[in-house]
Amino acid sequence: MAVEKERRSFLGAALGLFTAAGGVGALTAMKYTWDPLPSVKAAGFTTIDLSGAQENVLVTEKWRGKPIFVLKHSKDMKSNPRDIKIGDNTYFVAVGLCTHLGCIPAYMSDLHEFHCACHGGQFDASGEVLKTPPPRPLDIPPFKIDGTKLVLGEEGPEYKKLLADGLTSKV
Ligand code: FES
Repeated sequence: MAVEKERRSFLGAALGLFTAAGGVGALTAMKYTWDPLPSVKAAGFTTIDLSGAQENVLVTEKWRGKPIFVLKHSKDMKSNPRDIKIGDNTYFVAVGLCTHLGCIPAYMSDLHEFHCACHGGQFDASGEVLKTPPPRPLDIPPFKIDGTKLVLGEEGPEYKKLLADGLTSKV
């Protein structure tokens, strides 16, 4: 009887340990997924250091209360004049709000597309509309390139050119 009780408490402890380890693993994975790249926020500006960005992994930051998507393109993605070149790498940056009614689209990394669950809108990895109802591509926030950093909220020459070429609306 005592042996059975000991066995049960051993199994209980082992199960508890196993569950706790799984929980820690899940939390670590969640933190890794949700942690943005190193960034600094000050007076309406958000500076993101892109040196640690991984290809085809969407980073979501916050700028003036809006979600901002930053996506480092992989070599197999189509290039688009809306993309940003930083060194040898290509990035897409956008306000992460669907241009239909403002839902936050999800990035489907296997398809290289953003899908909006609200009314089925779809965008490619450069924010171009693949499927309506969104009336226009994802908006690009004002940005300035500073070495490997992206400063959101400042209008650098690359952003001004996108505006002048009619490739984004002002947000
Ligand atoms: Fe995205 Fe309607 S809000 S499709």
